[in-house]
Amino acid sequence: MIFTVAIDGPAAAGKGTLSRAVAERFGFAHLDTGLLYRAVGAKVAGGAEPEAAALALQPADLAGDHLRTLEAGQAASKVAALPGVRAALVQFQRNFARREGGAVLDGRDIGTVICPEAEVKLFVTATPEVRAHRRWLEVGGDEARVLAEVRERDARDMGRADAPLAAAADAVVLDTSTLDIETVVGQALGIITARLRETR
Ligand code: DC
Repeated sequence: MIFTVAIDGPAAAGKGTLSRAVAERFGFAHLDTGLLYRAVGAKVAGGAEPEAAALALQPADLAGDHLRTLEAGQAASKVAALPGVRAALVQFQRNFARREGGAVLDGRDIGTVICPEAEVKLFVTATPEVRAHRRWLEVGGDEARVLAEVRERDARDMGRADAPLAAAADAVVLDTSTLDIETVVGQALGIITARLRETR
């Protein structure tokens, strides 16, 4: 069975929690595509050339807490605006999306560019303040600075020319500003279950 769930949205909207829940419930493989850009950003910070780093990426490069920091997120957002970096990562993501057994991918352009044919497209969002507060609970420090980082990353991810962050026209928008994540997970599982029934 080929079945792709595309989950897009801005930073700290709840994509990771939702994707993991979907993967676990349906036994789908999960790819956090932000990690690809974070790993490239880390290599570039270490002196590598961006496109070469993207082409040479290995599974082992995707592990490590150093990829989870605010700085790694900013570095990822910067290299993600480079068309050569995005092009180098497309085929791997497409193959993952259409693998046998079902897949869930979370990112910014999964439903629009990587897998426009995805059986389910979800766009998970929340206000910048709510997302910054969630991120601050994880990373600590100065909450105003976290909010500024969230806004800066949103602007870069939405404003870039190549594959900007956007909801696909046929995506279901889930707003986690006021709903808790368990409720949103429940809604998403319902949408996917209904679509799976249709495709069988
Ligand atoms: O989802 P994340 O916060 O780990 O993503 C880090 C950055 O990577 C994000 O700010 C933009 C970029 N990104 C992207 O451009 N396209 C994706 N599919 C996933 C992430």
